[in-house]
Amino acid sequence: MGSSPQFMASSPGYGTGRRKSQFTYRQLGLLASYSTSSPLRVIAHIDLDAFYAQCEMVRLGLPDDQPLAVQQWQGLIAVNYAARKFGIGRHCNVTEAKKLCPGLIAQHVATWKEGDEKWAYHDDAAAHIGTHKVSLDLYRLESRKILALIHDCLPANQQKVEKAGIDEVFVDLSAQIHSIMLQRFPELANPPPYDDPTEKLPLPPITALDWQADNLVDLDNADDEADDPDWDDVAILIGAELVRDIRAEVRAKLGYTCSAGIASNKMLSKLGSGFKKPNQQTVVRNRAVQQFLSGMKFTKIRNLGGKLGDQVAVRFETELIKDLLQVSLDQLKSKMGEDTGIWIYNTIRGIDTSEVTPRTQIKSMLSAKSFRPVINRQDQAVRWLRIFVADIFSRLVEEGVLENKRRPKTIHLQHRHGGLTKSRSSGIPLGKTIDETILFDLAKTLLNQIISEGHVWPCANLSLSVGGFEDGITGNMGIGAFLVKGDEARAANAVAGGPREGGAGVLPHDRMTKTGQRANGPDIQRFFRKETSSGEEPIDTSERGDGSDPHQELWLDEQGDTSAARPINVPISEETSVSCPRCNVKCEDEIALQSHQDWHFAKDLQEEERQATQQTARSQKPGTAAASSSATKRSNKSTGKLEQGQKRLKFG
Ligand code: CTP
Ligand code: CA
Ligand code: CA
Repeated sequence: MGSSPQFMASSPGYGTGRRKSQFTYRQLGLLASYSTSSPLRVIAHIDLDAFYAQCEMVRLGLPDDQPLAVQQWQGLIAVNYAARKFGIGRHCNVTEAKKLCPGLIAQHVATWKEGDEKWAYHDDAAAHIGTHKVSLDLYRLESRKILALIHDCLPANQQKVEKAGIDEVFVDLSAQIHSIMLQRFPELANPPPYDDPTEKLPLPPITALDWQADNLVDLDNADDEADDPDWDDVAILIGAELVRDIRAEVRAKLGYTCSAGIASNKMLSKLGSGFKKPNQQTVVRNRAVQQFLSGMKFTKIRNLGGKLGDQVAVRFETELIKDLLQVSLDQLKSKMGEDTGIWIYNTIRGIDTSEVTPRTQIKSMLSAKSFRPVINRQDQAVRWLRIFVADIFSRLVEEGVLENKRRPKTIHLQHRHGGLTKSRSSGIPLGKTIDETILFDLAKTLLNQIISEGHVWPCANLSLSVGGFEDGITGNMGIGAFLVKGDEARAANAVAGGPREGGAGVLPHDRMTKTGQRANGPDIQRFFRKETSSGEEPIDTSERGDGSDPHQELWLDEQGDTSAARPINVPISEETSVSCPRCNVKCEDEIALQSHQDWHFAKDLQEEERQATQQTARSQKPGTAAASSSATKRSNKSTGKLEQGQKRLKFG
């Protein structure tokens, strides 16, 4: 930890406009237990800069100023900051990017080559979209190392870290900061006057804080800068110091730069980490929140980027937080529903009581491929299944299946033919250590089941996943162990999810939990179901009926990694805009891209319907060639309903 003096002591009695802190002993105490209702809590969001690009830089041992982009087929999936200076972004294709910067290294992402047993870097991968499949193993591996190092930087008994994507985490620093505050300011450890925890704390014995090189968001009222700091400023300053040290460790030990946001909740810290990049950290003090938010579009806020944000924008005819701040709570409730209205009302005021939920365990793993061109034969499909199995198995080994630490219970295969998706699942037999042969045989059986139904060629996409992970049973466990597990599971369920965890009530911070009110009514959950799904968890695509998910198509099916599939709600700057791989139209962010691709999908369905109707009409005419072709018979129109025998997948 940094040892530079951060606080400047003031002479007693100096600057005593207020003689007491606005915070109470009780509120300070709440910090130690990570209470979401402490107004002193400090949350950091740490996000790696141009992550995949940095992984390649580190792997290749390149200097920081070397422009590099990570290529996937002809597109770019990550662009380092040296290359962004040339105007290169994820919207560029390789040719455009090289025109902008001839010295650019366009490193193709590693791939599994059809028939190979292991992924590798292939020079000719870009030309072989038909026979190669992207592997993100390196990035996953680096991500794990970084996560482990972040854990190492924190005291063993004060680690509350939530992996929020392949390259980002939330860290709740509250308890650690509480300990540090008591060490540095021993007067805080004294019992409150009259033993009354609602008594106000004394003011910090300091007048100016040293923020070093941090970006400080301007205060709501410029004159406030002259005010003496209170304990929330001190707490967040200690947080900034801890995060600076974590970032320095990650850089020194692993070679990666990252950016961070430090604030009193997850929403603000996430906005903070994206505020200034690369290799910088932004502190959003409580007194600066309104100023920070008011200039922003609410669509940049976690969970307001998608359909919910669109609805709000349409109903209130604005995308700006400052306009929405004028809307009364009653109006918000009447137009958006009770819970959603309350949630929005609080969120745009910087209130977010959602918890940092440690979620380091993988729930499922998926390996998939979209076929362009489509494939037409079983033996081709089987060759891909072999790759999927190798891919998943290597990740299972890392997860400890060989030592029986954890094992998945189920395996699922999903198959897409035109707009129709079929899926089959089966249990993975217990009692034997899982190996590649077992998985491959199960996958082939599932494929046979799907094929036996007919109407499966050509196939546009296959995806194999394993789920329902359980801790391996090692040693004797009585029934008690299972009961504990059940409780843990319930506890985990109770806290799962994003903003619906809290953001409740319109009362001030410290009184919010007393109301017991929660903004997690069904209406709001509907919006967040997809966006808050945990990093490693495949979405139950069959829930959409049509089994489609164009977003998945682009980022998940191709790359086969669900944790990379949701780098959601990162404030999108011009450079990080994305373009549609089909028509190249530029979308502001992934969510906009998703809606755009939904549109493509709907058009495709329409077109298929049209063709199917034409073909049916033709086949009904006696004597036409198509009359007896089974391929033209469609037992199930693209109605969005499940196929006969198709099951809804449930991941554990
Ligand atoms: N990624 C992806 N699909 C997306 C967005 C991102 O596969 N739709 C990958 C990128 O390749 C990236 C990583 O996930 O390297 C993390 O994404 P993100 O944090 O959004 O962007 P970065 O590339 O890390 O850039 P930044 O410095 O802006 O964070
Ligand atoms: Ca990033
Ligand atoms: Ca990210």
